[in-house]
Amino acid sequence: MAEAGEIIVNMAELDRYVVSCMMASGATEDSARVLSDLLVTADYRGHYTHGLCRIDVYTSDVKCGVTCGGGKDPTVVKETVATALIDGNNLLGPVVGKFAMDVAIQKAKTAGVGIVTVRGSNHYGIAGWYSLRATKQGLLGMSMTNSDKVMIPTRSKTRSLGTNPLSMTAPGKDGDSFELDMACTTVAWGKVEIKKMKGETLPTGWALDKGGKETCDTSAVAGLLPLGGLEQNSGYKGYGLAMMVEILTSVLSGAEMCSFVRKWKTYEKPANLGHCFLAIDPGAFAEGFTDRMQNLMDHNRNLEPVEGEEEVLVAGDPERQHMALCDKLGGIPYHPNQIEFLDDIAKSLGVDPLEHVTKSC
Ligand SMILES: NC(=O)c1ccc[n+]([C@@H]2O[C@H](COP(=O)([O-])OP(=O)(O)OC[C@H]3O[C@@H](n4cnc5c(N)ncnc54)[C@H](O)[C@@H]3O)[C@@H](O)[C@H]2O)c1
Repeated sequence: MAEAGEIIVNMAELDRYVVSCMMASGATEDSARVLSDLLVTADYRGHYTHGLCRIDVYTSDVKCGVTCGGGKDPTVVKETVATALIDGNNLLGPVVGKFAMDVAIQKAKTAGVGIVTVRGSNHYGIAGWYSLRATKQGLLGMSMTNSDKVMIPTRSKTRSLGTNPLSMTAPGKDGDSFELDMACTTVAWGKVEIKKMKGETLPTGWALDKGGKETCDTSAVAGLLPLGGLEQNSGYKGYGLAMMVEILTSVLSGAEMCSFVRKWKTYEKPANLGHCFLAIDPGAFAEGFTDRMQNLMDHNRNLEPVEGEEEVLVAGDPERQHMALCDKLGGIPYHPNQIEFLDDIAKSLGVDPLEHVTKSC
């Protein structure tokens, strides 16, 4: 999770900023609002690697026309009562993903389960934003995407798969929920960029250099290790999970796959990314799911922590802690360099800079 910075920006102002930048780049207001919700939510949840720091990618993609800024909907190519194949028509990833997740949710409400695979899409940000749409309606949600190659598979020297994030969320009681949202590499690529910006070295288990040796030097990184790290630490399990995501996204939908996915921040062809969304109605299975789900989470939270730690968490708790911090501060905390970066983009697009307050936190 990100560390708190010292500049606080309220969420309505962040929304104004993203919508204005996207519309100045040629996106429709509807599309800009969907993207804004995703990016602001990412920062609010503490996933700064996939929040406003990525605005330059979305504005550039729409501005140069390699991504469609709106004015049409994704197309349902074929469907059954519980499945659909969707073409995203090269719209912004969150616009496509929101549409597709909502199709999966509707199908789960009638058939007990909905599974939707997508092609013709773009970078979709945090996987959890989609699965949580299902869980807010009492369903289990799953979401995953392929992405451009940064992972070096076990025993390889060369990048092949993306970080291929996946999310699984499940409702407990009184608004509580399990919210797993993770890359299949040890960390998201943005965490290496943040370490580099701060002049810090990497922990072991994150990256390899071009000779295929593990490196802690940010300037020597040739690619990311799969979740688990080197082979002796079972990195092949992260590699296997990334393959699973690739199968359910690109292989199942016919999207671009694996090493052939367009490199991030290049513009020669549409990204044609693949996603997959699942919604499951627990009511189609044993009675009392949310009671048992709550017991499962509480049982783990109530375990005795190791010395030096205050509590045992379940997935979603770190995000909840970050959101509580933002609520206390009255906005999202940013490092001054992040604000400078965002103000430079605003200036280049003729958009008003972010209004913010400076606090120490
Ligand atoms: N669109 C893309 O191409 C792309 C690629 C990579 C990552 N992402 C997104 O980036 C975000 C960050 O990914 P990440 O892998 O760095 O996440 P992360 O390592 O910060 O967290 C992963 C998961 O672990 C949980 N967690 C963290 N600490 C915990 C603890 N002590 N106990 C129990 N659970 C704990 C979190 O709640 C979260 O669900 C995610 O939202 C992901 O979807 C997107």
